[in-house]
Amino acid sequence: MYIKNLFLHNFRNYREQKVEFDHGINLLIGPNAQGKTNALEAIYYLITGKSYRVRKENELILWGAKNFYLKSTFKVQDLLLNLESYYEPNKKIMKINQVPCRRLSDYVGTVNAVFFSPDDLEIIKNSPTERRRFLDLLISQLKPSHIALLNSYLKVLRQKKSLLRREIKTRAFKEELLVWNQQLVDIGSKIILNRLEFTKKLNEYALPIFQSIFPGDNTLELVYYSLNRKDIEGVLADFSAILENKMAQEIERKTILVGPHRDDLLIEINGRPARSFASQGQQRVIVLCLKMAEMEIILNEKGEYPILLLDDVLSELDGKRRQYLLEYIYSTRKQTIITMTEADDNIESEQATIFQVLQGKIRRCN
Ligand SMILES: Nc1ncnc2c1ncn2[C@@H]1O[C@H](COP(=O)(O)OP(=O)(O)O)[C@@H](O)[C@H]1O
Ligand SMILES: [Mg+2]
Repeated sequence: MYIKNLFLHNFRNYREQKVEFDHGINLLIGPNAQGKTNALEAIYYLITGKSYRVRKENELILWGAKNFYLKSTFKVQDLLLNLESYYEPNKKIMKINQVPCRRLSDYVGTVNAVFFSPDDLEIIKNSPTERRRFLDLLISQLKPSHIALLNSYLKVLRQKKSLLRREIKTRAFKEELLVWNQQLVDIGSKIILNRLEFTKKLNEYALPIFQSIFPGDNTLELVYYSLNRKDIEGVLADFSAILENKMAQEIERKTILVGPHRDDLLIEINGRPARSFASQGQQRVIVLCLKMAEMEIILNEKGEYPILLLDDVLSELDGKRRQYLLEYIYSTRKQTIITMTEADDNIESEQATIFQVLQGKIRRCN
């Protein structure tokens, strides 16, 4: 699959811009703060209905403007597909082939993309939130029903939280709490199972990639860690009982203490947490492996590679790793859009379509 063109209106620092992409390698070159990342963000937003960087869409509107609009034509399985996004505060319209989608889950997944930026190092370094987000974004692209599950789960959490904060605790209180707990178990278990399934898939691809970069006995393993346990089958069997056990404590502390909203995806190299035991360079390689594994999982499920968006990552990798990534990009046909501040000697201009990005304008150079 690939993106043929992109039209941006009042998106970030773009007032009005149209770009025609090549189905191979596209380079967006320009100094800092010109709009390179913003262009990738627009593509990612069109595909997933979400920004990679911010939660609030208001930040995506060109300063001083009232709304933004994005439109693209994609080629998916030899079919042309139009996606459109319109946003103004409190109004969001997403369309596939001119037809508005009622829910995000009807929209997401038609086109796929993998976004890779230096900030992804946070997947390893930061809190479990980043790792759950990484996992949920991947699952959502391939199983849009996961988005609906996450939304329902959030609603239950909100209800349960407001109940726990209530002052008067009658018998009805306890009954209501049991209802929310039951829903938490029902929806939560499905979320855990989806995450477990995709953790397995990531492992399947990430380990061989990791070993081809670090030959020898090095291992990379991802472990889904739910309710502070690694044996997920046991967790699912005990879920209700665990909630029951925590009930008194939750009531006393007026807060929710257990559930998949606190789970983690452990990333281990040679059996140790990568977060504290891997060097900065190794951590970068692990993220690279995760991203390449995402590419392969999507290829496997969709029969086509997703669009690869590489934001400033080539300069972050050492020579050997950069070469590895470039060979991967060249090896089989996959559309790649790469941003960089200066032309890279390793990429010959005949092999790529080059664009210059300056002050919210994109100009094709070859
Ligand atoms: N909503 C917005 N409206 C106008 N300009 C914006 C908005 N959000 C960010 N910018 C500007 O966009 C520029 C950053 O663009 P970015 O794509 O991140 O740069 P880079 O080319 O370094 O990747 C900055 O100059 C920033 O001030
Ligand atoms: Mg940038």
